[in-house]
Amino acid sequence: MRDSEIDLRFEFARSLAKSAGELARTYFRDPVLGQRYKALADLVTDADLAVDGHISRAIAQSFPTDAILSEEAGGDDADTLWIVDPIDGTQNFARGIARFAISIALCLKGRPIFGVVYDPIAAELFYSRTGGGAFLNGKRISTSQTLKVEEALVEAGYSAKFGWRTYHAMTGFLLEEGFGVRQSGSAVLGLCEVACGRIDGYCELHLESWDVAAAAVILEEAGGRIIDFLAPDWVKHGGPIVAATEGIWDRLRYAASRVPAFDPVRTRSFRS
Ligand code: IPD
Ligand code: CA
Repeated sequence: MRDSEIDLRFEFARSLAKSAGELARTYFRDPVLGQRYKALADLVTDADLAVDGHISRAIAQSFPTDAILSEEAGGDDADTLWIVDPIDGTQNFARGIARFAISIALCLKGRPIFGVVYDPIAAELFYSRTGGGAFLNGKRISTSQTLKVEEALVEAGYSAKFGWRTYHAMTGFLLEEGFGVRQSGSAVLGLCEVACGRIDGYCELHLESWDVAAAAVILEEAGGRIIDFLAPDWVKHGGPIVAATEGIWDRLRYAASRVPAFDPVRTRSFRS
């Protein structure tokens, strides 16, 4: 794809993430918001479906030959693929907690080429195109300079796929290593917060491609490290994630990979 065609899509994605965010806001704290469980701990609301439809229709209208993979409508891998999470942080959203985001990425031949993440409540737009740096509302961002594990704050996302015992083991290893640990219900925002230096790392035993694709570009362009999210089958089946600043990368990767369920093949760095 020519550079100008990527530019066009990048600009389009930024404006689309904002309009999708405004649509999500119209459902936020609606007392009669429709919702149901797709699976254990996996909620979908009317807002997820409406925002998913809004984004998919807009992409299909403007770029009819591009493929789309979204959390709510599915899709297949393709050479030119948009990866969409209409609302990341659905559990928060459904409870009226203001921590959720719209996430849109474009992948070319399995490689995320740009990522856009919009938090409509904080009015924060994170975005990055590979090689062009990472930005938050127009200002360049970078990861923190934290070097000491004892001063580091990391997020340990909970994946229901592995259950509480494995999560308990992972958070135990992180705390034993000396990390401060938190969980706040949006992988996309957790990864963007590593990118802009608010926290220092993120790990989770399993995430889907729509939870990671956009934020991964932003994080790497901000100077962070993330494990091999391009490993075979990642787009379709997801996988474990460790992401961190350069300073704590080795220690966080070590602590997370002590959990037996962590696939050692995936713990190598995308960049190394
Ligand atoms: C979830 C959030 C959560 C993470 C889960 C994801 P969703 O995505 O990112 O923080 O721990 O594994 O499934 O369902 O809110 O889009
Ligand atoms: Ca979602």
